[in-house]
Amino acid sequence: MEIKEYLKKQAEYINKKINEFIPSGRPEKLFDAMAYSLTAGGKRIRPVLILEAAKAVGKENIDEIVDIAVASEFIHTYSLIHDDLPAMDDDDLRRGKPTCHRVYGEAIAILAGDGLQSYAFEIISKNKAVSPDKLLKVINLLAHGTGIYGMVGGQAADILHEKENSFNDIQFIHTHKTAKFIQSCCQIGAVLADADEKEEEALKNYGFYIGLAFQIWDDILDEIGDEEKLGKKTKKDREKNKLTYPSIYGLEKSKKIAKDYVEKAINEINILKNPEILQEIAKYIISREV
Ligand code: IPE
Ligand code: IPE
Ligand code: MG
Ligand code: MG
Ligand code: MG
Repeated sequence: MEIKEYLKKQAEYINKKINEFIPSGRPEKLFDAMAYSLTAGGKRIRPVLILEAAKAVGKENIDEIVDIAVASEFIHTYSLIHDDLPAMDDDDLRRGKPTCHRVYGEAIAILAGDGLQSYAFEIISKNKAVSPDKLLKVINLLAHGTGIYGMVGGQAADILHEKENSFNDIQFIHTHKTAKFIQSCCQIGAVLADADEKEEEALKNYGFYIGLAFQIWDDILDEIGDEEKLGKKTKKDREKNKLTYPSIYGLEKSKKIAKDYVEKAINEINILKNPEILQEIAKYIISREV
């Protein structure tokens, strides 16, 4: 099976599980907003990476950790809701639908994001199959990768960046806003599969490199991607004078840098029991149209 087809199948499995975890309650509008963004689509690449990283080091019973994968998508969805807000990237379209704040208003969109984030940790805390010490490590990795030393820090740098194009700035932004979260997903998979130190380190490095490639490719798609397929507006980075790889290096050099990261990622995990799917995912990241 082609990797694209395989990922589609995995995303369907994650979607089924996400539906089981969508909360309900009052006020209805808040819960509707969370469900709206969670079910709008998306590649589900972070939850898939958690599960595939675990499988790559031999984990078989995936059902007992899928709630943790689902939680990662709750956090990712929160990050997108906030990323699209007028105070941030000011986007009207996400996953082919009007953005959360366009449908529910800014206040509810902010709160839906907040709610998704804390509920993600609530989900993880309720897992019964994984030992408490491992769950604590998972929580630490996820909070670290998505918080002030990871995604939140990177998003702040993205918004605050000085206009002069510097390698250090773009590297900081990409590392923090995107790579650290993706890295944490791969490392979480390792922890959940009882990986040894070397395996965990390999998955950590793999996650970092594909995370960097992922954001470079996202920047490239913003330049040359198909709006319809992507489900989000293109050429926005240029319009907003964002610091992106294409803006600094041009398209061809950016593609080459992303390819180099993918090769590094592939090499890192040669030592694993079953590296093949993760290696295919790495290649997919820089060939995807969505
Ligand atoms: C978009 O993430 C935001 C970035 C970190 C680049 P994805 O490309 O994973 O978006 P979805 O989940 O598939 O919509
Ligand atoms: C967002 O990067 C990264 C996040 C942490 C959400 P972008 O702002 O480039 O993501 P898109 O292009 O809007 O999906
Ligand atoms: Mg942004
Ligand atoms: Mg954005
Ligand atoms: Mg982008």
